[in-house]
Amino acid sequence: MSRKKTITISYTEYDRLDELDNNNKLLIETAREAALNAYAPYSLFRVGAAIRLENGTIVKGTNVENAAFPSGICAERSAIANLVSGYPHEKPVAIAIAALTEDGLTDEPVTPCGNCRQVIAEEEVRTGSQIKIILSGRKKTIIVESIKSLLPLQYSKGNMRSTLLS
Ligand code: THU
Repeated sequence: MSRKKTITISYTEYDRLDELDNNNKLLIETAREAALNAYAPYSLFRVGAAIRLENGTIVKGTNVENAAFPSGICAERSAIANLVSGYPHEKPVAIAIAALTEDGLTDEPVTPCGNCRQVIAEEEVRTGSQIKIILSGRKKTIIVESIKSLLPLQYSKGNMRSTLLS
């Protein structure tokens, strides 16, 4: 027998930054600042990420590219590497992402690539914490309450023991 299933995702879109609370505005500002430090000589697309921890600390990351292209890392994973290495026992509560082109901040929010979604998902599992994802562009900001909305049917360590199909 087959069953058709539907997954609905929801997120909130904001037209203006001042509709956000101060913590989230600060996180976006920090991600934008971090983007200035990116090393992106190949794509010229500079991305910044900022993670807020439960204790209020903000941890940053940027994309770091490489002449051997696959050796580069995205801003989100670079921020998570900083989080795990510097604050292994703290819980992340939100991550903001912002990107700069040669013309400045992108108009539209940039969403994390598949690899980064997978790594953010593992962070939720590792820390037992739901991580709000704040995607900010010049004209619009999107807040997604959990990576579950960006990565439905996600693969995690539980799948190694039981599969969706069994
Ligand atoms: N990039 C990020 O750092 N985060 C994203 O969410 C999207 C893409 C980086 C990877 C690469 O250095 C550059 O942006 C162009 O894809």
